[in-house]
Order: sequence, then C-alpha cells, then structure tokens
Amino acid sequence: MTSFFELTPSLELENLEVVYHHVATAIQGVSLRVMPGSIVTLLGTNGAGKTTTLRAISGFLGADNAQIVGGRVLFLGQPVTGRRPHELVRRGLVLVPERDKVFETLTVQENLRALVPGWRAWRGADRPRIRLDQVFEYFPLLADRRRQLAGYLSGGERQMLALATALLCRPAVLLVDELSLGLAPAVIERLMILVARLRDELGLAVLLVEQNAGAALAVADYGYVMEHGRIVYDGPRDRLLAHADVREFYLGVGHRAGRKSYTDVKQYRRRRRWF
Ligand SMILES: Nc1ncnc2c1ncn2[C@@H]1O[C@H](COP(=O)(O)OP(=O)(O)OP(=O)(O)O)[C@@H](O)[C@H]1O
Ligand SMILES: [Mg+2]
Repeated sequence: MTSFFELTPSLELENLEVVYHHVATAIQGVSLRVMPGSIVTLLGTNGAGKTTTLRAISGFLGADNAQIVGGRVLFLGQPVTGRRPHELVRRGLVLVPERDKVFETLTVQENLRALVPGWRAWRGADRPRIRLDQVFEYFPLLADRRRQLAGYLSGGERQMLALATALLCRPAVLLVDELSLGLAPAVIERLMILVARLRDELGLAVLLVEQNAGAALAVADYGYVMEHGRIVYDGPRDRLLAHADVREFYLGVGHRAGRKSYTDVKQYRRRRRWF
C-alpha cells in the first residue's frame, strides 16, 4: 500500500528564491509541499513574501520586474519553474490573485467565460470538466446575479466570482491569495467552508495564502509561517494552533488577548521564538 508520505506532492517548492529589480531579495530558500486533496496555508504579515511566492509559482513575476534566481517549482512531480501563466493554467495550476480578481465592467457571466481557456487547450487534458451549472451549485448567488455587472458585487461576492472562474479552468492545484481581504468574519467563514468543500468534493489541492491565520487554520490541513521572505515554522494544523508564537502573534490569543487588536499583532516586531 502507498503511504501518504510516498505520494507525489501536487505542488512542491524547493529552495525558491526571488529578487525584484535584480537586487531586492523578496523570498529566500522557500521550500514547501502541497499534497493531493489537502489545503495548505501560507501565513505571514504584511510584506512577508506570500504574494511573491504565489506569483513565482504561477508565472506572474515578469510584470513586476522580478525573477526566480534559485530553486525549483514542481507541479505534479514535473519541474515547471518559470513557465508562462497560460501554460500553467492549461496544466491545472490556477491562481486566484490578491487584487483585481474580476473584470468590473463585465457581467458575472462574461467574467466566467472570459478567463477560461478555449476548447483547444483541453485536448488531451485528463482532468474532469467542471460545468457551469456545477459551479453555480457551489455559488448559487452568482447564478442569481449572472447578468449583473461584476463591479456591483460585494467584496465577498467578488471573491466567489474569482473562485468560480478559477474552477472553470479545471484546476488540479488552486493558489488563493488573501480570500479574507477586507471582509466581515461571517463572510470569511462562508468562503473558507466553500474552499473546504472544493477540497473534499472535487479533490483539489489548495495553497491558501492568508494574513488571517484563524480563518485559514479553521480549514487547512497543514501550515507554513513566513517572515521576511523565509519559512520560519511549519506543521500540521493542530501543531500550529498549539504553538505559543502562532497563538500570540497570529491568532491574538494568550496572555495579551483582549488588549491587542489584530493590527497590533501584525505589526509586532519582538523576536519570535520559532526554533
Ligand atoms: N513590484 C515590486 N517591486 C519591488 N519590491 C516588491 C514588489 N512587490 C513586492 N515587493 C517587496 O517584496 C516583499 C514581499 O512582498 P509581498 O507582496 O510578496 O508580501 P505579502 O506577504 O504578500 O504581503 P501582504 O500581506 O501585504 O500582501 C516586500 O518587501 C515588498 O516590498
Ligand atoms: Mg500579498
């Protein structure tokens, strides 16, 4: 019998290093794994390097004058370091970006059609097709608003539309950047439950980048903590939830609970005790 540890990871980073403008190192020696059918969260405060990591994986570094200068990205066991976004999407590695997730001047339905690769791209693809009506089952609200302009959607609805569009690309691995950005706790919880359903019902592997550790760890199987461009700690969900520094600096619980706002926690600069 094949054990969990012998499975090929859906996504693996080996010592990835990215610099901006040929000089500024944004991430260094980043290694992580996302196993099939699991949600892995990458946690970190402002500027830690989370978005840079996702951009490096998904081929979107070029627009920012950034490049991978070391390490490898493996997708389903194959090296794909530095491949272009459209090729990666066709293979099933799909990014839901941090900002500008939807086209505001298009309707919901037009958005859903706009980004999905044409039928030629699917020739030879062995991933099952995800139909529009299936997507509407996950996001019924989008079905009701399909003729409305995406610019009129609420923050939570935009996140849903971005996830729905990504699903239509038949992902094997979904990279999600800050699903919780600017949303109320109840909306965040609904979105996280949806992501967990996508893992459980479609078998997706998900790399979930979040500043909101509480929301991410509610559904993640495993997590990595990133600070100043490096992974400083990782472990299964329960180990992260029990770790004193994760609790104090990322979940805002412990002896300072009640007196610190989340912003205070994010900006906290005292030396951590990761090791
Ligand atoms: N286009 C850019 N040019 C130069 N430096 C950049 C650029 N984008 C990001 N950086 C730098 O790279 C580092 C990592 O930024 P990144 O956006 O990856 O962080 P993040 O963890 O996603 O932060 P946030 O939680 O605020 O989204 C930061 O020091 C940032 O200033
Ligand atoms: Mg970011």
